[in-house]
Amino acid sequence: MNQTLIVFVEINYKIVYLCLSFERSGRHSKEHGTNLCFTLPDSVHLSGIFFIPMAKIITGLYNIDCLELLSSINDEIIDLTITSPPYNLGDKHHTGNKIFNPYDDFTDNLPEIEYQNQQIKVLNEIYRVTKDGGSIMYNHKNRIRNGVQITPYEWLLKTKWTIKQEIVWFNGSQNFDKCRFYPMTERIFWLSKGIKTNFINNINQHDLIKDNAEGTNKEHKRSFPIKLAQRFIICFPDSNLIFDPYMGSGTTAIAAIKEGKNYLGSEISKKYHDIAKDRIKNQILTLELF
Ligand SMILES: C[S@@+](CC[C@H](N)C(=O)[O-])C[C@H]1O[C@@H](n2cnc3c(N)ncnc32)[C@H](O)[C@@H]1O
Repeated sequence: MNQTLIVFVEINYKIVYLCLSFERSGRHSKEHGTNLCFTLPDSVHLSGIFFIPMAKIITGLYNIDCLELLSSINDEIIDLTITSPPYNLGDKHHTGNKIFNPYDDFTDNLPEIEYQNQQIKVLNEIYRVTKDGGSIMYNHKNRIRNGVQITPYEWLLKTKWTIKQEIVWFNGSQNFDKCRFYPMTERIFWLSKGIKTNFINNINQHDLIKDNAEGTNKEHKRSFPIKLAQRFIICFPDSNLIFDPYMGSGTTAIAAIKEGKNYLGSEISKKYHDIAKDRIKNQILTLELF
């Protein structure tokens, strides 16, 4: 039987697709980079190669600014976003008594109002590319600036999203400033597009999650645990395409692969993008071996 196969390939941030016509039979092949898996027939005839614009982005991990990637994504294709943006802490990140800037390639230090406006813009763009009933799990925390607490609600309430739930993540991180009770928690805000979602708590999870922050062998100091992202994916069983605009070391992509889902994301730092690509490759190899 004659059939047509369309193969998507990533070249220089553009998705190219190959259109192949063939007689159906059974040679097996895999394309790892884009997470495609297909059966290649014995007699393949290349019938065309077409460059299609960025607006046709399907899956993959891109080493670009998240707003640039978002501007290339069609409306309403994402099911679930799991993300943790930089917190705009400059060199004021804490581990115990150690204060540092965890990032190599940028300072994470905008005027607060500019930072909040940027987050509103990113969140509203994610809203546009999310399907009706889709969700975002947005990891952030209460920060102190000039002795005053800033809560993420200050900008979340200015976005288009519906706030469904606030989840407390007790992650073992610590800050021993004597001027207040030691902060040991972050937040995950569950936001939805519309009120009805396909969420189901089939892991009996309560709203206090205790997962130690993992790090990736200290290569990325602000990565969240794979298990944390996996919990969320499992609770949205119908979701297929999982997005992370701030992919860091690729944790969301790895959780997506483990749960048999597709992923899409951006990371601005070349170093972290390379770490993420290696982790993703290793994850795919592990799945193939076992
Ligand atoms: C808190 S970390 C995310 C860590 C990630 N969840 C993980 O598990 O590895 C935030 C990441 O956003 C990246 N980043 C900062 N600004 C960005 C931008 N405009 N577009 C894309 N990535 C950005 C940083 O380089 C950093 O790796």
